[in-house]
Amino acid sequence: MEVKLAEYAGFCFGVKRAIDTVHAQIDTGKKIYTYGPIVHNEEVVRELEQKGVQVIEGEEDLAACDGTGTIIIRAHGVPKATQEAMEQRGLECIDATCPFVKRIHKIVAQAGEDGMEVVIAGNAGHPEVEGIKGWCSGPVTVIETEEEAQNFIARDGQKVCLVSQTTFNYNKFQSIVEIFQKKGYNDNVVNTICNATEERQHSARVLAAEADVMIVIGSKNSSNSRKLYEICSAECARTYFIQTLDDLRLELPKAVRLVGITAGASTPNNLIEEVQNYVRINF
Ligand code: F3S
Repeated sequence: MEVKLAEYAGFCFGVKRAIDTVHAQIDTGKKIYTYGPIVHNEEVVRELEQKGVQVIEGEEDLAACDGTGTIIIRAHGVPKATQEAMEQRGLECIDATCPFVKRIHKIVAQAGEDGMEVVIAGNAGHPEVEGIKGWCSGPVTVIETEEEAQNFIARDGQKVCLVSQTTFNYNKFQSIVEIFQKKGYNDNVVNTICNATEERQHSARVLAAEADVMIVIGSKNSSNSRKLYEICSAECARTYFIQTLDDLRLELPKAVRLVGITAGASTPNNLIEEVQNYVRINF
């Protein structure tokens, strides 16, 4: 029996970079905070907490902390005002915003300076989108659907800059771009979707199509992990969704030739290896 890991699985570049930043700061021995959980994975957050890393949940928490130590901005990024509040609080601020997200901040900040109205294709309320909004100096609108794109009217003939949340669906973004083109809102259209999500989904689909059993490792509250589970279930009837090895109740019929494994973008490598080794040794 073969055990195969999807070509792209687990931490994406930006999340890995943010977590490595936290680890490097722990080694300095200073008091370390992260602004929000560094990643949507309880195991990782718990492990960091055991090493003394404290999660600041919002601006209220920030105001209540004693103002000493280092605070790390996670891969999603934060609004400009939040970053300034951290600095004003006296904390040393380390920006682990994913460079792909930072690029969006720069695009929208420039658009504001150029007097353009910003439109973000994304999920309103998502921390990344909230962060992007916080770098816009002028009017900004978040649209999630084609219908909202149809209904959108730019303010007073203002030019429009359209960007996307990094995890936004590519086809949906294309439809929104087309709608905007027809309306003449194509002054500055930048596709800022990150291909890490697409790569993970595509390689999970390919592997699930050939596997007899599929295991998806990820946190139940991670939307990209749940999406991987959906994709794999559609291709492979025996798909298991587990958070840690303890959740795995694997029963493999004799005829199983290939067990596929994939993991959400917030699943750490050691967890993936643990599951891989367990299946290899026990079946
Ligand atoms: Fe960055 Fe893409 Fe991950 S934007 S945080 S590498 S999903």
